[in-house]
Amino acid sequence: MAFLLLVCFSLIISMSSGADNITANQSLSGDQTIISKGEHFELGFFKAGNSSNYYIGLWYKKVSEQTIAWVANRATPVKDRFKSELKIINGNLVLLDESNSSIWSTDVNYTNSNLNSVIAILLEDGNLVLRNGSNSTENIWQSFDFPAHTWLPGGRIAYNNKTGRKQLLTSWKSNEDPAEGLFSLELDPVERQYLIKWNKTTQYWTSGSWDEQNKIFKLVPEMRLNYIYNFSYVTTDNESYFTYSLYNPEIISRFVMDVSGQIKQLSWLDASQQWNLFWSQPRQQCEVYDFCGAFGLCRESTLPFCNCLTGFIPKSQSDWNLNDFSGGCVRKTNLVCGRTSEKFGFLPISSSKPQNFTSIPVGSLAECERSCLNDCSCNAYSYVNNNCSIWNGNLLDLSEDNSNEITVNVKVASRDLPSEKKNKGVIIGAVVGAVVGLVLIMGLVLLLIRRNKRRLVGKTSVEGTLISFVYRDLQAATKNFSDKLGGGGFGSVFKGTLSDSSIVAVKKLESVSQGEKQFRTEVSTIGTIQHVNLVRLRGFCSEGKNKVLVYDYMPNGSLDAHLFSVDKLLDWKTRYQIAVGTARGLVYLHEKCRDCIIHCDIKPENILLDGDLCPKVADFGLAKLIGRDFSRALTTMRGTRGYLAPEWLSGVAITMKADVYSYGMMIFEFISGKRNSEQSQDGKKQFFPMQAANVLLGGDDILSLLDPRLHREATVEEVTKLCKVACWCIQDDEDRRPAMSQVEQILDGVLDVNMPPMPQSLKLFVFSFTHPFFFFSTE
Ligand SMILES: *[C@@H]1O[C@H](CO)[C@@H](O)[C@H](O)[C@H]1NC(C)=O
Ligand SMILES: *[C@@H]1O[C@H](CO)[C@@H](O)[C@H](O)[C@H]1NC(C)=O
Ligand SMILES: *[C@@H]1O[C@H](CO)[C@@H](O)[C@H](O)[C@H]1NC(C)=O
Ligand SMILES: *[C@@H]1O[C@H](CO)[C@@H](O)[C@H](O)[C@H]1NC(C)=O
Ligand SMILES: *[C@@H]1O[C@H](CO)[C@@H](O)[C@H](O)[C@H]1NC(C)=O
Ligand SMILES: *[C@@H]1O[C@H](CO)[C@@H](O)[C@H](O)[C@H]1NC(C)=O
Ligand SMILES: *[C@@H]1O[C@H](CO)[C@@H](O)[C@H](O)[C@H]1NC(C)=O
Ligand SMILES: *[C@@H]1O[C@H](CO)[C@@H](O)[C@H](O)[C@H]1NC(C)=O
Ligand SMILES: *[C@@H]1O[C@H](CO)[C@@H](O)[C@H](O)[C@H]1NC(C)=O
Ligand SMILES: *[C@@H]1O[C@H](CO)[C@@H](O)[C@H](O)[C@H]1NC(C)=O
Ligand SMILES: *[C@@H]1O[C@H](CO)[C@@H](O)[C@H](O)[C@H]1NC(C)=O
Ligand SMILES: *[C@@H]1O[C@H](CO)[C@@H](O)[C@H](O)[C@H]1NC(C)=O
Repeated sequence: MAFLLLVCFSLIISMSSGADNITANQSLSGDQTIISKGEHFELGFFKAGNSSNYYIGLWYKKVSEQTIAWVANRATPVKDRFKSELKIINGNLVLLDESNSSIWSTDVNYTNSNLNSVIAILLEDGNLVLRNGSNSTENIWQSFDFPAHTWLPGGRIAYNNKTGRKQLLTSWKSNEDPAEGLFSLELDPVERQYLIKWNKTTQYWTSGSWDEQNKIFKLVPEMRLNYIYNFSYVTTDNESYFTYSLYNPEIISRFVMDVSGQIKQLSWLDASQQWNLFWSQPRQQCEVYDFCGAFGLCRESTLPFCNCLTGFIPKSQSDWNLNDFSGGCVRKTNLVCGRTSEKFGFLPISSSKPQNFTSIPVGSLAECERSCLNDCSCNAYSYVNNNCSIWNGNLLDLSEDNSNEITVNVKVASRDLPSEKKNKGVIIGAVVGAVVGLVLIMGLVLLLIRRNKRRLVGKTSVEGTLISFVYRDLQAATKNFSDKLGGGGFGSVFKGTLSDSSIVAVKKLESVSQGEKQFRTEVSTIGTIQHVNLVRLRGFCSEGKNKVLVYDYMPNGSLDAHLFSVDKLLDWKTRYQIAVGTARGLVYLHEKCRDCIIHCDIKPENILLDGDLCPKVADFGLAKLIGRDFSRALTTMRGTRGYLAPEWLSGVAITMKADVYSYGMMIFEFISGKRNSEQSQDGKKQFFPMQAANVLLGGDDILSLLDPRLHREATVEEVTKLCKVACWCIQDDEDRRPAMSQVEQILDGVLDVNMPPMPQSLKLFVFSFTHPFFFFSTE
């Protein structure tokens, strides 16, 4: 009884402190907080990590992991939060420390004298505002104008053209200290792009630009479809800014300028109680300029990323312990110049070439080395292709990046040189380098050959191959669109018979946002694409709103009807051939057409089978044909979600690798004969790709994965191969996924395939079907 009372009592107390505002005669101190009306955000004192300092900040109320979205007094922490107060004084929100002195203030200069009614309100979107009374909607001051490291939906990355003031994100100093760190994200209003800067002065990364026509950030110069964020770029007389909103306000998502120097986009998944990284830029930690400081070497493959060069130690070990590497490294033994010059040697390292070198006109390696030896300020030299480069200042931005490494010889005191040189790594590096180089060169040669070929074939006129139909004729051919073959997000397909008695599939398109001219251009592009594994477009009709495509009819319908049906069964050999044929069709779309085409919607429904069960990819080119609404339609369509690559969620550029992902997801279904989204019958309830990856990586019985209806009638080699390919295809990191041409070569046996790593987001997908991971659930 007493216990119950106590519970009720504490409930009342915590509720009564749930105001969303601070008024003129109130203050906030100690553990008190204010909470936005819908309880999304909470404001109060917090401390970061093990630090003993307190800051005023706001965080997500509904997110179980402390996640600070804004900090007021970044540079001026308080020690005792119970003796400190946040209150409104003369219309300003002011933070008073232990000795009652103002250490942070909103600093609004009023011309008005009546300031009693000014209050601070924490709004639902995480914006803390000052308003003149509760009925006012005008913000006198807002925290959105002074973001810390987080860009919330509705916030702005802005540049004021009148005052020159930039509204930017600045990383935290370290995970324990929200003071301003080295990295910032700001707007470049001239190029309409955003810049990530290092230490506010040195620009090192610029990424993305504003695509006026499609109203999106273009993050890479490829087709990009976005459906989760509504980005806009706004220019007024006074300022320019980027802002964004979420189409689905239920999603908790943020951009953050991280201490790692990467801009990250994270979304909270309730099911796993974790922030999930969907996208970061730069992708790789070591691409962040000078992440490891002077004489630090960045290695993507090891943790921590940074290590000092041999003969060097961290300048500040305590900073390094906090993962703040920016201070870099210093020599263990200082070099004494002059006659002691024989007391040091050179240590070769492999790195991408550091900036800020001087070129010396000498003719040999020995001379190059000697000029560095004789120059007191020289810290390193390299001699590549008869070019001698010398570094006099600090060696910055050293990173082991596999593509363009050179050997840099660093001057180190003899006593700090290792007694025995480790040659192994270098040799392996060299071999790998040589192989990579060879492959690159071969690729280039192939590309050139292909280009030349294309040039020879490219000019043949294909204008005549497409028939422009009259709508009335198509109505007649399809008996007024009565014999429906199937439907999808972009329109329904009907069977028809043309006057020459050939049978066709007629697709009536819906919601085409493309203009007439654009539509015809895209259609004629699709018309030129012909390949044995692609469904041929025979003609089209475009009369006002009536947009129709006419394709060859495929008597065996779509693959899903065969793969998942109870009364049809595809044997293993046929499944394998369909996998190969589909890969060929995609290779053609991706690499061999004049304008590369990303299909965007690879799934069994879009693989059609001709009379001989030869697969033909359907519906390619629709993305451009439909235009603006394509991505939203796609991502809201039931039956598509399970095949969509994670980058569709993140709103970054969609590349051909998104097709590779969908292909991989589909291949798993070839093996199991079931939809991945269907939970397995035997009660294991494991997402099939996850199960397959586990069996594959565990070296278990691979045929146990096979569709039970096949009674293990398949070759272990082929099932293993498809399984490996599928696992590679669904890697989270696009760069890790193979190109379709590689997939084709692997399936053809021309190329070997390694054991894939476990695709990380599979763990998320386990939740996705019980707990919609793809947030749109219209239908
Ligand atoms: C401030 O919060 C209190 C407690 O929730 C509420 O009663 C009051 O209406 C709020 N005042 C304003 C001006 O919003
Ligand atoms: C706060 O100030 C308002 C008017 O500004 C007044 O009506 C109210 O009584 C005050 N509340 C307290 C607790 O002093
Ligand atoms: C905080 O301190 C504890 C104990 O001193 C330690 O175990 C923990 O790793 C520290 N946490 C961080 C984030 O440094
Ligand atoms: C704290 O400072 C404010 C003005 O900054 C003053 O009005 C107030 O009386 C001071 N309070 C104490 C306890 O000194
Ligand atoms: C308010 O006025 C002070 C002194 O004139 C000035 O330093 C400060 O920048 C002004 N603040 C704003 C927000 O304009
Ligand atoms: C707030 O509104 C009141 C009445 O509408 C007005 O008298 C007062 O000057 C306003 N104060 C400010 C700071 O705008
Ligand atoms: C705010 O608006 C409501 C309704 O519009 C009105 O009843 C109330 O008196 C207003 N409050 C103030 C402080 O103006
Ligand atoms: C800023 O204003 C100047 C003139 O007022 C104009 O020439 C310039 O284009 C503007 N810049 C931007 C980015 O709007
Ligand atoms: C950042 O720049 C400031 C001034 O430009 C400089 O004093 C500081 O040392 C720099 N910090 C680092 C870590 O390079
Ligand atoms: C996207 O944002 C713009 C500008 O904020 C707005 O006008 C538009 O209605 C939004 N679109 C959708 C679909 O929410
Ligand atoms: C631009 O700034 C001027 C003052 O500098 C202000 O009067 C005007 O309202 C501002 N325009 C906009 C669109 O904010
Ligand atoms: C490059 O070297 C010059 C002269 O040694 C120096 O002033 C400059 O700061 C260096 N730049 C970088 C990025 O280290």
